[in-house]
Amino acid sequence: MKLQDKVAIVTGGNRGIGKGIARKLAENGAAVAIVGRSQEALDAVVTEFSEAGFIAKGYTADVSNPEDADAVAKQVVADLGSIDILVNNAGITKDNLVPRIKEDDWDLVLDINLKGAFNFTKAVYRPMAKKRYGKIINITSVVGLMGNPGQANYSASKAGMIGLTKSNAKEFSSRNINVNAVAPGWIATEMTGELTDEQKERFLSGTPLGRIGQTDDVANAVVFLASSDSDYITGQTLNVDGGLVM
Ligand SMILES: NC(=O)c1ccc[n+]([C@@H]2O[C@H](COP(=O)([O-])OP(=O)(O)OC[C@H]3O[C@@H](n4cnc5c(N)ncnc54)[C@H](O)[C@@H]3O)[C@@H](O)[C@H]2O)c1
Repeated sequence: MKLQDKVAIVTGGNRGIGKGIARKLAENGAAVAIVGRSQEALDAVVTEFSEAGFIAKGYTADVSNPEDADAVAKQVVADLGSIDILVNNAGITKDNLVPRIKEDDWDLVLDINLKGAFNFTKAVYRPMAKKRYGKIINITSVVGLMGNPGQANYSASKAGMIGLTKSNAKEFSSRNINVNAVAPGWIATEMTGELTDEQKERFLSGTPLGRIGQTDDVANAVVFLASSDSDYITGQTLNVDGGLVM
């Protein structure tokens, strides 16, 4: 139980990679605060986790709204006693070629993926700094490292998260708060169900391990970065991509 008595917030934790991360953190002893937009989806995952014997609570919020982020952080401290781990996982895609990206779709992707991570980081900073303990893990993407046609908004938001990770790692080190990123390759979720066959073929042909990743592949890396096993690691991006980017 690497995370016994720890409290973790996972944004977008009601499905896909976020749900896989929340489950692994809970399996390792953490109480999990799951943040999502849909009360119904949160209720379902909280019931499932509680029936499995985990401590789990759901919090409705839009990560792009700083007031929501502050309210969730305050409520989690009130409900669960502290915040030790933050996983900024919530994210969306609005793919298109640059000439066709609408301004609204540019703004929305940046607001949710990048500003959302900033909002939640800012909201948890005080409780973590006060405790002189924290682990922040930002779920970026390999496309933030290598770019991808049709994903200029998404890859810019994910590259931004890597810059945010490094700056926060330097800023927060004196408070014993580690900040790292995980960059998944192609992971089987509802989000990637939307990729075209051509995009899937391109990803797989460049992936030395020759398979699609599973949510647990990402969750295992997050548990490592959330635990004391990674105490001397900060400001890093760990690729979980079958060797796609090296
Ligand atoms: N699936 C992949 O192959 C892959 C690869 C690299 C990176 N990622 C990243 O991993 C993360 C999770 O991806 P996924 O595949 O599980 O996607 P998903 O669409 O299945 O899940 C995304 C989650 O984020 C939540 N969310 C979206 N907007 C939100 C908002 N404004 N406020 C609160 N919650 C919000 C959704 O409700 C959902 O729970 C994303 O950041 C994504 O960019 C995914």
